[in-house]
Amino acid sequence: MHTNLERVRVPTPKEKIEALREQLRHHEYLYHVLDAPEISDAEYDAMLRTLRDLEEQHPDLVTPDSPTQRVGARPREGFVKVRHSSPMLSLDNAFGENELRDFDRRVRGLLGDEAYFYVAELKLDGLSMAVHYRDGRFAQAVTRGDGETGEDVTENARTIRSIPLGLRKRKGDWEVRGEVVLNKKAFEKLNEENEAANLKRFANPRNAAAGSLRVLDPSITASRKLEYFTYFLYQNGKFACATQHEALETLRELGFKISQHWTRCAGIDELVKFCANWEENRDSLPFEIDGVVAKVDSVAQQERLGWTAKAPRWAIAYKFAARQAETVVEDIIVNVGRTGVLTPGAVFRPVNIGGVTVSLSTLHNEDEIERLGVEIGDTVLVQRAGDVIPQVVRVVQQGEHRRPFHMPKHCPICGGETVRAEGEAATRCVNTNCPARLKESVLHFAARGVMDIDGLGEALVDQLVEQGLVRNIADLYGLTLEQLTELERMGKKSAAKLLEHIEASRGRPLPRVLNGLGIPFVGERTAQWLAEAFGDLDAIMTASEDQLQRAEEVGPKVAKSIHGFFHEKRNRELVERLRHEHLSFTYEAPKRAGGALAGLTFVLTGTLPTMAREDAKARIEAAGGKVAGSVSHKTDYVVAGAEVGLKLTKAQELGIKVIDEAALLAMLEGTE
Ligand code: IVH
Repeated sequence: MHTNLERVRVPTPKEKIEALREQLRHHEYLYHVLDAPEISDAEYDAMLRTLRDLEEQHPDLVTPDSPTQRVGARPREGFVKVRHSSPMLSLDNAFGENELRDFDRRVRGLLGDEAYFYVAELKLDGLSMAVHYRDGRFAQAVTRGDGETGEDVTENARTIRSIPLGLRKRKGDWEVRGEVVLNKKAFEKLNEENEAANLKRFANPRNAAAGSLRVLDPSITASRKLEYFTYFLYQNGKFACATQHEALETLRELGFKISQHWTRCAGIDELVKFCANWEENRDSLPFEIDGVVAKVDSVAQQERLGWTAKAPRWAIAYKFAARQAETVVEDIIVNVGRTGVLTPGAVFRPVNIGGVTVSLSTLHNEDEIERLGVEIGDTVLVQRAGDVIPQVVRVVQQGEHRRPFHMPKHCPICGGETVRAEGEAATRCVNTNCPARLKESVLHFAARGVMDIDGLGEALVDQLVEQGLVRNIADLYGLTLEQLTELERMGKKSAAKLLEHIEASRGRPLPRVLNGLGIPFVGERTAQWLAEAFGDLDAIMTASEDQLQRAEEVGPKVAKSIHGFFHEKRNRELVERLRHEHLSFTYEAPKRAGGALAGLTFVLTGTLPTMAREDAKARIEAAGGKVAGSVSHKTDYVVAGAEVGLKLTKAQELGIKVIDEAALLAMLEGTE
């Protein structure tokens, strides 16, 4: 029997995939650009999963602009430098209304009697980035860098949801420029997470945005909720629209995110009003702004106004004043860090500065206190510039009963002697057993990326050290369930979990153990090189300073520090305890030896004509060679591509052989 059904064509997998992508793109746009989602996150995820499944069944249909392709790239070894299509110059600043009016007078003078408009936009506090589209497809993202050349952050930018991977409708070559930002909420959350994991806090959302974009592993960028606000649109190398306001409107139509708070001003008075309004209301925004950018609207007029060497004459950045407030210094206290440095800090009568209650700020060291002339009881001006971290600007009024601060002669934590070395600003506690130093060193040992002992946070370490349960890091491995459950805020379940994590950390490889020891100047990379060069901890411990310098990136200063560390009795005892706890003391570098390039160290620089940097690295390593990040006398070959810089100069200085990609391929030839 013939039914209608037989004549209905079933969509091909390609059509199904296309349709899903179209829907997903639409919902990404609604969510990330318009902030107006129409479906739940779960529905979105389900749709994405369906697409991923289909693509898995039909790998030939996967395209780079598919919503499934946002995170996929592997971590990179470094960023490739890219020259901008035209320089990304910066703006001249205007501080205060008068300077803004000066700018307007210059514009009026140059334009004669012609009428003109300004477009006023918020000056978002992030980092600027250019994004290129070829044939309507996301192709490359480059940070501003020095304005002439930036870093290729394509894989990381691909993970930012407000950057469309395909442009709606339009084909051709497009470039957009804009600002990558992290909103205040995401910034706070990131800092809280960092704190919990014993990592550094970011000083402000701008640094956090930069730190999230310029990471080698795109999956980190993906986890950070960055946003991209655009403000310039180019087509085939030229401004795509006749006016800035049309550019903003077109950007939005193309699927980009723009800040909604822009306005077209008929004259300077309107512009001044816009600036004053946002200076007053900046704290109501979800993201940090540090001013207003005013641009002459007409591109024809912009062209007539032209550029100076570093900035356009047709635009200005009106900078907000730093948020400041006066308060009283109630005390000056001292904090002791991992390296024993005593850092003085001011304790304020709490004061609200731009929505944040400030009650503490660092005074850095004795010299800074002297420079400020600050004493306890003084009224001071405190400011939060772009930075969330407050600072004392100056003394406003000396207190009636002011008291000078003196750096303590004895450590406030252990009572040990303190010294300020000749020519140094820092004062240190000399007692290597100081509990303050111990706490910091335990936290470092347990940190993420070091020994990864989850759950060993600051409050807990305080208790462990103060109760004498942990006198050095090796003591962690002797902790018992009974001891832990007696501590404050420690249930049986979390105690057992912690013990599990401590147990698991015994298996970390030697480079991590080395990093965990907290040897001055030995971080993650150096620890890795040391482990690779020596293969076991005993060899490192007994090596001379000269021998230590055999390892990549170890110079005289670092060698001296390592040598000195292992010659302190206390540290040798610690190592013996760790050996007893069966931590990894030997290391076998992932199969390198034996290949045609065994024993050779390469440094890659510039863009190679055919190979991606990661591929070149992977192939060198597969052939037994090593790839280092910087040129030193241990480098055997520098492989140079296009647009090389300092590394090449350094190689020439050191007389190291420089080869091109073809020569590298020839060396690899026959090894594969
Ligand atoms: S226009 C030559 N517009 O501020 C044109 N910049 O001080 C310069 N910025 O490097 C860019 N919001 O990182 C422009 N709406 C906006 C902006 C903005 C933030 C940043 C950008 C630029 C810096 C200039």
